[in-house]
Amino acid sequence: MGIDYNQIVAALRAIPDPQTGQDIIQARLVQDLSVEQDQIYFSLVLPSSYDAQKEALNLACQNAIHALYSNAQVHIHFKTAAQKLGPLPQVKNIIAVASGKGGVGKSTVSANLALALQKMGKKVGLLDADLYGPSIPTMFGLEGQKPASKILYGKRRMLPLEAYGIQLMSVGFIVPPEQAVVMRGPKLSGMITHFLKEVLWPDLDYLIVDLPPSTGDIQLTFAKTVSITGAIMVTTPQKVAVVDAVKAMNMFTNAALNVPILGVVENMAWFTPKEFPDYKYFLFGEGGGQQLAAMGKTVLLGQVPLIQGIREAGDVGKPALLQTDTLLQTPFMKVAAQLVQQLNYQAKEINQATKS
Ligand SMILES: Nc1ncnc2c1ncn2[C@@H]1O[C@H](COP(=O)(O)OP(=O)(O)O)[C@@H](O)[C@H]1O
Ligand SMILES: [Mg+2]
Repeated sequence: MGIDYNQIVAALRAIPDPQTGQDIIQARLVQDLSVEQDQIYFSLVLPSSYDAQKEALNLACQNAIHALYSNAQVHIHFKTAAQKLGPLPQVKNIIAVASGKGGVGKSTVSANLALALQKMGKKVGLLDADLYGPSIPTMFGLEGQKPASKILYGKRRMLPLEAYGIQLMSVGFIVPPEQAVVMRGPKLSGMITHFLKEVLWPDLDYLIVDLPPSTGDIQLTFAKTVSITGAIMVTTPQKVAVVDAVKAMNMFTNAALNVPILGVVENMAWFTPKEFPDYKYFLFGEGGGQQLAAMGKTVLLGQVPLIQGIREAGDVGKPALLQTDTLLQTPFMKVAAQLVQQLNYQAKEINQATKS
């Protein structure tokens, strides 16, 4: 009986990639698969970080194929991947959302931006890395829930939870906030790294990361552990918020990290009462977002007004973007559209730079 190529592919699809948990075909670890009578040839292209799992992968491939064709001769050629894979190769864009101060709306922007990108047809994940005040579980109605886990090559790995089509992980699912606040910097940043490597994200167009406010070990460790596509700064129009945001922005752009700033979101830009949707009260002043964008040689992605409904939506676990009132959705849809445009510019610039 001849060996069916498609059956071999299907058998290999049952084997998980040790890093991402995707199957090894999807993760593109298998190359040059060919079948000649009872001989099966393919390469497993692995980064050197997979060395410890080489033998296990070899055995898993052999077993999977022999379960179908006991007489098959399986020839696996191990190759070292030329390109060093980052820790999240299945994620196209990692977007950090940062701020100088707490309470400026970082989580509100992160959550609604994630939902806006999803509405544009993208696959989106949201990582709540704010150890001091994780609010994503509440905003998505997942308080008190625990992520499922599975064992992959002897290691326990966590699976994101899903709400409204967004893949979600929060430190709030793992560590109670009262425990996090007593931990010290190095321990916290160690936890973030561990956390980043432990979660099995699916294929994503965007992973939005809600970082803790200010500058510190957590942000630094995070930026050094994964390759961040860019950061978004959230600020209110107020001078003191801008002053702090500049410091946080400089941390990303300094030579050691070199994370591009994709733009600024000015939150709580003005207050509009429900009864008078055309009124604008500039409670926190004006122009802070534009000012911060100019200082960072970046753009103002958008302004989000202070609207009671935005706060209420977050509190009831169904963010503004999911509310029927378009007044609540529009500011975040604009921010998402601007962000995608900025990313396109960035990609073009990189293209040009590598061509010349
Ligand atoms: N544009 C807005 N309109 C109304 N309330 C808002 C707005 N942005 C944020 N809030 C509210 O302000 C508080 C702080 O926002 P949050 O997103 O948690 O800030 P951070 O993550 O920066 O600490 C929350 O109660 C939130 O619901
Ligand atoms: Mg927050």
